[in-house]
Amino acid sequence: MRSTMDDSGPLLTMDDLTVNLQVAGAQHTVLEHVSFELRPGEARGLVGESGSGKSLTLRAMLGLLPPNATVVSGLMEFDGQAFDLSQRSKSARRQLERVRGAGISMIFQEPSVALNPVIPVGEQIVDAVMRRDRMRRAEARDYAIHLMRLVGIHDAEHTVDAYAFELSGGLKQRVMIAAAVAGRPKLILCDEPTTALDVTVQQQILSLFTHLRDELGAGVLYVTHDLAVVAQLCDSVTVLYSGNVMEASSDLRAVFEKPAHPYTEALLRSTPDVDRIGRRLYSIPGSAPALGDRPPGCPFAPRCEYREDDCEHERVPDTSPIDGREVHCLHPVRQDASSVRLAKESR
Ligand SMILES: Nc1ncnc2c1ncn2[C@@H]1O[C@H](COP(=O)(O)OP(=O)(O)OP(=O)(O)O)[C@@H](O)[C@H]1O
Ligand code: SF4
Ligand SMILES: [Mg+2]
Repeated sequence: MRSTMDDSGPLLTMDDLTVNLQVAGAQHTVLEHVSFELRPGEARGLVGESGSGKSLTLRAMLGLLPPNATVVSGLMEFDGQAFDLSQRSKSARRQLERVRGAGISMIFQEPSVALNPVIPVGEQIVDAVMRRDRMRRAEARDYAIHLMRLVGIHDAEHTVDAYAFELSGGLKQRVMIAAAVAGRPKLILCDEPTTALDVTVQQQILSLFTHLRDELGAGVLYVTHDLAVVAQLCDSVTVLYSGNVMEASSDLRAVFEKPAHPYTEALLRSTPDVDRIGRRLYSIPGSAPALGDRPPGCPFAPRCEYREDDCEHERVPDTSPIDGREVHCLHPVRQDASSVRLAKESR
């Protein structure tokens, strides 16, 4: 982990993002009071199992939610500009459109979806460059080739004229990253950009991210289900479960060494690469609640080893961050124990 963070105010704050989805005639809450912030140059991991609401969080930030979604609340401040995400007026939508691709860009899990199949990939980077900078097309093309080299495309002079279908998954993802950084964004949203790639290419792309962060100083919000990726890339972490923040901290190391939320602890125990203190690999029992099946109390209660009677019916109150750490739990993992298992046994 190498940080290029500065100490000025936050680049981004998200406050109280709550989103409902209409499914089969009923409204279901999929994101509830989600809040986080990011300083310039900071990389924050947004982590959680499948269905926890990671992609919807990113989409809400860019006004790209599916049509059956309603933003109930959510105040976003980015680079000094305030956005009320619950506003659906034309002017509010235009305000978000302006920031999309200029100040904030997004890298998707599946580059084929984001790249236009009938336009050479280089043209798509050129378009992104020209949206931001007044340049002649030939100059923008040279700059696109420079960016393609920066993301590790060695044969950039030829690849610039290729179509997406002619490229491997790893090359397409690199093109996506070049297009995403072409407009010199202050914030890059990444939605599991390496999951569709094989392990070696994944590693290359992760190293590339570290390099680009240093080079561009952009903030990164990195969505993944993999804590090992967060350990490699991020400075801070927000752990989501069933659309709720479970634990969040600006001190990633503290969370990895002593998770305070039982869900974070369980995720760490089930992640081989970050299982640094000799814990046996673990599989979290059961599965996350389906939409509309959320328990009345803590959403993690049916799967939690630390559960007590009150967890099943008491709503977990919102907590204010203490020393940069937020923990939404009625019975957090004790921080004075020498290991996670001892913490449980000595209770
Ligand atoms: N358009 C939609 N209609 C109905 N349900 C949806 C829709 N989009 C998302 N969901 C549901 O909302 C929840 C959160 O979805 P989201 O895509 O944000 O999860 P995620 O954390 O990104 O998961 P994954 O790791 O699998 O990508 C899931 O239960 C998902 O099935
Ligand atoms: S509130 Fe209770 S059930 Fe939920 S994570 Fe904490 S201990 Fe477990
Ligand atoms: Mg997703």
